[in-house]
Amino acid sequence: MKIGYLQFNPDFGKTDKNREQIQNKLENIKADIVVLPELPVSGYFFSTKKEAEILAEPIPGPTTNMLQKISLKTGTYFVSGILEKSNGNLYNSAVLISPEGPISTYRKTHLFYKEKEFFQPGNDYFIVDIKGVKIGMLVCFDHLFPEAARTLALMGAQIICHPSNLVLPEIAQQTTRVRALENRVFWIMANRYGSETKKGKTNTYTGKSQIIAPNGKIIHQSSAEGDELYITEIDPEDALKKNITELNNVFEDRRTDIYIN
Ligand code: ACM
Repeated sequence: MKIGYLQFNPDFGKTDKNREQIQNKLENIKADIVVLPELPVSGYFFSTKKEAEILAEPIPGPTTNMLQKISLKTGTYFVSGILEKSNGNLYNSAVLISPEGPISTYRKTHLFYKEKEFFQPGNDYFIVDIKGVKIGMLVCFDHLFPEAARTLALMGAQIICHPSNLVLPEIAQQTTRVRALENRVFWIMANRYGSETKKGKTNTYTGKSQIIAPNGKIIHQSSAEGDELYITEIDPEDALKKNITELNNVFEDRRTDIYIN
């Protein structure tokens, strides 16, 4: 199976321009699953909820329509961050797009910093079967909560797709390696780079998107800056092997009888 990500630098609020850039980068892609960053069409650093509301979109909507067109042409499935508007609420979501359109939406469950003023959190985890492989979705800050990835892995996820706009340097680049290793899953972290300034404050995004193997090794890591579309071939069956030694299995050895919930 060919998996990958697009690292790039959206221009805040320029939704048409960002969609066009994404389309230009992806339209001739040859892959099975490609992950895009968090909020790659709207940008991230909202000053007010009103500003976020103006940039939000429904699912299906312009972004999923654009990605569906590419999916129809190429057969590639996409997991993209999206600023989702639904029933008057805003969600920081990851949407899974197939040739038939959007098939599943995960709403970020752990909201970071001022996101709490703009978004409602999601309330569930689930996995989706793509071409016989089970994938789970998380968004950015969710990486810091081991329970989130563990829940997806226990549900059977083989690949965790992780759109991100990371601002704390070198943290998720480490945690996602550990999450992949402790759960024996593949991890695709698609991060953005660049910066956004609002009212004298600057968010700098850390790039270094990466794909991690179930043994915790970095298959590939991008630079801190710069666009990159990276695709690699993996064997998803590797994520079904949960033994660390012949006598140790990362799921079966858990001591749920003594852990605190
Ligand atoms: C983040 O969750 N975007 C830092």
